[in-house]
Amino acid sequence: MERTHNCGQLRIKEDKKKVKLIGWAQRIRDHGGKKFIDLRDRYGITQIVFDPDVTENFEDVENFRREFVIYVEGTVRPRPEGTINEKHSTGKIEVLIDKFSVVNECEVLPFDIDEDHFKEVSEDLRLEFRYLDLRRKSMQDALIRRHKFISAMRNFFDKEDFIEVETPFLTKSTPEGARDLLVPSRKHDGSFYALPQSPQLFKQLLMVAGYEKYYQIVKCFRDEDSRKDRQLEFTQLDLEMSFIEFDEFRKLMEESLIHSIQVYGHKLSHKDFKVLTHKEALDKYGSDKPDLRIQGMELCEISDIAEKCSFSVFKGVVQRGGIVKGMKVDGGQEKISRKEVDRLIELCQENGAKGMAWMKVMDKGEIESSITKFFTKEELDEIKKRFKAESGDYLFFIADTRNTTNSVLDSLRRHIAKELGRVENKISFAWIVDFPLFQWSEEENRLDAEHSPFTMPNKEGVEFIEKNIKTNGDIEKYREELLKIKGDCYDLTMNGFEISSGALRIYKPKLQKTIFEIIKLSQEQIESQFGWFLKAYNYGAPYHRGLAFGLDRIVMLLEGAESIREVIPFPKNKVGYCPLTHSPSPVTELQLRELHIKLRNDKKDKN
Ligand code: AMO
Ligand code: AMP
Repeated sequence: MERTHNCGQLRIKEDKKKVKLIGWAQRIRDHGGKKFIDLRDRYGITQIVFDPDVTENFEDVENFRREFVIYVEGTVRPRPEGTINEKHSTGKIEVLIDKFSVVNECEVLPFDIDEDHFKEVSEDLRLEFRYLDLRRKSMQDALIRRHKFISAMRNFFDKEDFIEVETPFLTKSTPEGARDLLVPSRKHDGSFYALPQSPQLFKQLLMVAGYEKYYQIVKCFRDEDSRKDRQLEFTQLDLEMSFIEFDEFRKLMEESLIHSIQVYGHKLSHKDFKVLTHKEALDKYGSDKPDLRIQGMELCEISDIAEKCSFSVFKGVVQRGGIVKGMKVDGGQEKISRKEVDRLIELCQENGAKGMAWMKVMDKGEIESSITKFFTKEELDEIKKRFKAESGDYLFFIADTRNTTNSVLDSLRRHIAKELGRVENKISFAWIVDFPLFQWSEEENRLDAEHSPFTMPNKEGVEFIEKNIKTNGDIEKYREELLKIKGDCYDLTMNGFEISSGALRIYKPKLQKTIFEIIKLSQEQIESQFGWFLKAYNYGAPYHRGLAFGLDRIVMLLEGAESIREVIPFPKNKVGYCPLTHSPSPVTELQLRELHIKLRNDKKDKN
């Protein structure tokens, strides 16, 4: 059995040709005593016709069910007038079958995989029969485009003289901030490997080793709760370069995306990439991953006015160190009914706000709201001025801690923009720069690294630390100043999702030691976790920076998919379970014993 053509290949020029095809019977129809089958393979669909006057063993065709794999021999002929199907590249011809054999049968399908009839079934059922789900044209197309995008990225970096180097999967914990997935060691009683959260430390060592330009398309493992944009294992394009400053680096990264997204099918230019500081992003959009496709509706703080007004909610929040911030919806009154405002208030509450206040600017410029009475005319005028609000506009306000206010307004802004169709149909990137190097950890009562403890402070930050931080006492003394230091690090966001993150790394051992001291890592912790790694920087290290692209997320966004599970061939479900392989699953007592593991049986303990 060998085919002469695939199912997407035959055209009218093959008229009268004898051909052999193999494929899946996608659709089977009866017509005037003949059987018509859409024969499918990866390349397309060809209509084949079984005719009792021509086809040997015609009666056996009766037993065919959908998704039988069949081998056929026959003759190409034009389709009769009126039956041409423009949807398929082979739509002008059909193949009249002389002979056939069944390669394999197929049981009754758990769901219809013919795209025209596919109905949403539970995701777990799709994942249990993923090999059937992946037969669907939309899934095949998505995976083929994923492949094209990733191979374009690979080609780009190959051309730029990067080399792909593999790094270990059985390794030691990497500090990306998630939980590790651990692998128990049989040979080393009581010890575990960690699966890498990223190749971070190894790629840094490759720079120390002098490779200058490294990349790797690599699986990373993080024991995180699955979400729409998160999986336990996911794919990064991880890279690192020596001797390069941010502007040049940024340009190269943009070019890699412009090139690969063009191969995917969208034309972009450097103009589609904006650069925002972390502060700017939070001030204007309430988010460090703003969706720049949304036009207008920028946020504006009014804490100074709120503090003076007589609305106790606003005033109280500001007095307790919180903020009051709002957002204007241009022409919102026409689009958003009172009832919808109530729904928006609920939405804000679901997102953690205590309430949401609104104001309407009316025809003569007066403000209508249940809270106008708490503001003087001057204060209301100032609010209008700050938002450049005009008649017909709606203003929405949140008063809370800075973080809650920002995150609630961010969600509200995205929600309203979607509802009102104010999200432009394009791809929009934003580099977020100037992240604070440290954040204050209330729980642990210490400064913590905001990005990673290996991120280089910016130039002023390095100078400040080298000049002022000599003893533990200095850390406390200069806490406020330290919190103001910015890191030489960056995120790249695409349509409101973080798709990449990176930094210039600390390559000076002394500075690294001070940073560890600032975040209160003890000498023992430093030594046991990172001693092996830090040692390398004592042997002549270059300066180097890099980043990692989250490939699943980028493809999800390019595909306009709802979740990364749609663009990962064999993903885990929402609770990190694989319905296909039924993993994770228990192992045998013998396996456990070999690994020196005794289960705690916590459930029993709790009873
Ligand atoms: P970071 O942790 O920001 O950086 O990861 C880089 C990118 O990987 C994607 N990503 C994920 N995608 C799917 N599921 C997940 N659970 C998941 N976690 C992260 C995101 C993210 O932007 N070593 C550093 C990079 C560097 O500094 O060079 C790192 O891993 O798109
Ligand atoms: P109240 O006086 O509690 O009825 O609130 C008056 C208005 O202020 C209502 O529209 C509330 O939704 C709104 N509101 C209450 N708390 C907040 C808050 N923290 N931020 C913004 N608006 C609020």
